[in-house]
Amino acid sequence: MLEVSGLSVSYGAAPALRDVSLRVGAGEIVTVVGPNGAGKTTLINAIARLLPLQGGDLRFNGKDLTETEAHETAAHGIALVPEGRRLWGDMTVEENLDMGCYEPTARARRRETLEQVLTFFPVVAERLKARAGTLSGGQQQMVAIARALMARPRLLLLDEPSLGLSPLIVEELFDMLRAIHATGLSILLVEQNAARALEIAQRAYVLEDGRLVNEGSASALLADPRLREAYLGLSPTSQVKTEAKASPMAIDGSALDVIFRKARSHNVWLDKPVSDEQLRALYELMKWGPTSANSTPARIVFVRSREGKERLRPALWPLNVEKTMAAPVTAIVAHDSEFYEFTPQLMPHNPAVQKAFLGPAKAAFAAETAFRNGTLQGAYLILAARALGLDTGAMSGFDNAKVDAEFFPEGRVKSNFLVNIGYGDHSKLHPRNPRLMFDEVCEIV
Ligand SMILES: Cc1cc2nc3c(=O)[nH]c(=O)nc-3n(C[C@H](O)[C@H](O)[C@H](O)COP(=O)(O)O)c2cc1C
Repeated sequence: MLEVSGLSVSYGAAPALRDVSLRVGAGEIVTVVGPNGAGKTTLINAIARLLPLQGGDLRFNGKDLTETEAHETAAHGIALVPEGRRLWGDMTVEENLDMGCYEPTARARRRETLEQVLTFFPVVAERLKARAGTLSGGQQQMVAIARALMARPRLLLLDEPSLGLSPLIVEELFDMLRAIHATGLSILLVEQNAARALEIAQRAYVLEDGRLVNEGSASALLADPRLREAYLGLSPTSQVKTEAKASPMAIDGSALDVIFRKARSHNVWLDKPVSDEQLRALYELMKWGPTSANSTPARIVFVRSREGKERLRPALWPLNVEKTMAAPVTAIVAHDSEFYEFTPQLMPHNPAVQKAFLGPAKAAFAAETAFRNGTLQGAYLILAARALGLDTGAMSGFDNAKVDAEFFPEGRVKSNFLVNIGYGDHSKLHPRNPRLMFDEVCEIV
C-alpha cells in the first residue's frame, strides 16, 4: 500500500532522515519507534507531504507521491493526525470535523461518514456543538482522529496520539484505534509510548538518529532485550504488561494479537520453507488441546513435496489450487474413525471407556466423536501454528472423497479440512471482515 524507499529529508544543512525505507501493507498497523529526536515526526510529515524531500521515492497504491502537495494527499486516501492535535479551538467540534472532509468526494458523503465516525467516539458525538478548545486533552485527541477519518482515508498517519494523556485515556484511545483498524484501515503510528504502540502493531521499525536501525514483527521487537531496555523502560526479561488482568497465567496482548486479533487467513505465500522441526514443534503444541475422552482422533498428513502436492491437486476446488500449490506445506486434517483403539493407551486410568464406542449400536456416536474432536484438533493446529510464528489458511473447498481415496485408501481415516501453512504475504491480504458482536452471539444466563 505505502512504499517508502531511500527517503532523505534535511533541515537546512542538517540531515533529519537518511535513506529510510519502509512499507505499510493493506490492513496493517505499522509503528515507528525510537528516541526523541530520532526523526519520527519528520518521517510522518514527509509522508504527509508537509516537508520537501531531498531524495527517495514515495508510493501509495503504486502512485508516485513525491510531487504531491500536502492538500492533495487526502484525495489519494491518506490522512494525518498531527502531533499536538492542531484543532481550531474557537470552532465547534463539528466544524473541526468538517475541516477533515474538504475533499469533494469526502464532502459528498459527509453525513454518512460523520455517522460512522461518531460510532467510534460517543464522547465526541455528545460534544458536537461545544467549542473544541473546551474539551479535555483526550477528547481533543479523539476529535483529531475523527477529523482525519472524515476524509475516508485508507491510510491513517498518527503522530504521537498519546502525548500528554493519562494512562487510562491512552488505554481507551488505543482500544478505539484497534476498533477503527478492524474496519480495514491501515495505520502508520509514530509513538513515544513504544510499548503500547508495539502491542497494537503488526510490524515495527526502529528509527535512531534519522536512520532505520531495526525492523521486524512488533511482537519480536517487543521481546528484544536491547529494545526493551533502550525504549520501553522495561527490564530485558520482565514480563510485558498483560492486558487480560484476570489471571496471572494470562498471556500478554501481543501474544493475543499473534494468535487471534491480528492473525489472518492467508491466500498468498512467500517462498520460504517450513522444516520438519517446525512441523514436529507444531504437533507437540497442538496435541495438548483437549478432546473428549482424550480421544485425540486427528490424523495429519503434512503435504510438502511437489509429488504430494500433485496428488492433492485434482481434489482441490479451482479457487484453492494456486494457493495450495504455492503454500510451503498443506496439512490434511483428518480423523481416525477407529480412534478408540487407542483408548487403553490414552485413558490408562479408565480403559473401559473404550466400550462407549464399540459395536454397531455405538457407531454413530463414535463417528460423531471422531468428527467433533478431529475438528477441534484442526483448530488447535491453526492456533499452534500461529503461536509458532507461522501463518495458516484453512480450506474446506475440496473433494473429501478424492483426498480419502488418494491418501487414506484403507477407508479408516477420513479427511476433514486442509490447512495451508507457511509465511503469508501480508501485503496481499484483503481488509479483514467483521465478526459478530458479543450480544449477537452470546447469552449469559
Ligand atoms: C474450516 C475452514 C475452511 C475454509 N475454507 C476456505 C476455502 O476453501 N477457500 C478459501 O479461500 N478460504 C477458506 N477459508 C478461509 C475463511 O474464509 C477465512 O478464515 C475467514 O474469512 C476469516 O478470515 P481472517 O482469518 O483473515 O479474518 C476457510 C476457513 C476455515 C476455518
